Amino acid sequence: MIDALNIRELQQASRARLPAGVHAFVERGVEDDISVAANLAAFRDLKMQPRVLRGVASIDLSTDILGQRVCAPMAIAPTGGNGMLWYRGDEALARAAAAAGIPFTISTASSIDVEEIARAGGRLWFQLYMWEDRKLSHAAMDRAWASGCDTLFITADMAVPPNREFMRRMGFGLPFKVGRRSLLDIVSHPRWALGVMGRYVLNGGLPRQANLPLELKGTLTRDPQRRASFVNDTLDWDEVKGLRDRWKGKFIVKGVMRGEDAQTALAIGADGVVVSNHGGRSLDCSAPTVSVLPEVVSAIGGRGTILFDGGIRRGTDVVKALALGADAVLLGRATLYGLAAAGQPGVEQALAILKAEIRRTMGLTGSRTIAEVSRDLLAHSSDD
Ligand SMILES: Cc1cc2nc3c(=O)[nH]c(=O)nc-3n(C[C@H](O)[C@H](O)[C@H](O)COP(=O)(O)O)c2cc1C
Repeated sequence: MIDALNIRELQQASRARLPAGVHAFVERGVEDDISVAANLAAFRDLKMQPRVLRGVASIDLSTDILGQRVCAPMAIAPTGGNGMLWYRGDEALARAAAAAGIPFTISTASSIDVEEIARAGGRLWFQLYMWEDRKLSHAAMDRAWASGCDTLFITADMAVPPNREFMRRMGFGLPFKVGRRSLLDIVSHPRWALGVMGRYVLNGGLPRQANLPLELKGTLTRDPQRRASFVNDTLDWDEVKGLRDRWKGKFIVKGVMRGEDAQTALAIGADGVVVSNHGGRSLDCSAPTVSVLPEVVSAIGGRGTILFDGGIRRGTDVVKALALGADAVLLGRATLYGLAAAGQPGVEQALAILKAEIRRTMGLTGSRTIAEVSRDLLAHSSDD
């Protein structure tokens, strides 16, 4: 177990372990990191008005999400590059989520085959990007369904590649390319170099883009062939409707920031949306997600599932998002810090910290069940 009392301390432990370029890939957003900071600040600005003397000796964190009971109103968000943070990182995240009784979302950019991740057990969701050759994405959907993923997320907020200037400046390219500067960075982090890269080298080579057919799998350090590059700039609602009709399970549009888009998502047959600005990693200057959540809730609340992500670092953040009308939250960096710091036990620690903080926040706000976390818990600000 890492000596960390909260997510911020896990973040510090992950920073010490990772090469600066890999840490920046997780931590930073795009351009001037305005949205990354805004997501966090918006939560800090939101205050609560607790209820008292309600008998909170027994508190139940469990809730129904997309047709199944989960042990807490959380799931792990899809993140690419997990295999760079820990040896077989996707598997470590999936196992920790299963142990905590919450879903794990496999990213299209995962580096372990969906069939193998499924062996970790637990509830799995699958996130889809579109490759230029659409048949590849359709095949990935079919594999995900056959492996037991019950929900598909289509990520809508990466229409064009984001501007990660810092990656170029730090000597890393994506796919991860190692230059002279980044080589120095790597050798000065021997625990990571040996524990992550060393283990890959000893066990058959660097991580690969797992959700492609074998002949197209590039490693994380090699450019994929063109037809295996993500191309989302032609994606529109018509194509997403086609994907909806093709997928037999629950269907979610991830990256929705407006009420009207949430309504369109339901109109084409989606079961809900993720209110998300990709953790500030797509459009810089995107509004903080918590500030647009009420608009989405008033557009589709009660008719579709509303998941939320962006800046969740404390149990109080989770309770605030639920109070605003989200059904559950997705965890991006919070669990990645645990992963980079200590692998599966580190992710389990992150989840245990958040569960304890949610439970405490519920106790201190007089909420015994998730259903009792309601809008009136939030204090009105003076500009309301
Ligand atoms: C390192 C990293 C990789 C990510 N990769 C993906 C991805 O492959 N697909 C996707 O839909 N979102 C991806 N995201 C966005 C997350 O799913 C989520 O929206 C975001 O991390 C939430 O913000 P938070 O990190 O502040 O919790 C990624 C985020 C991070 C930090």
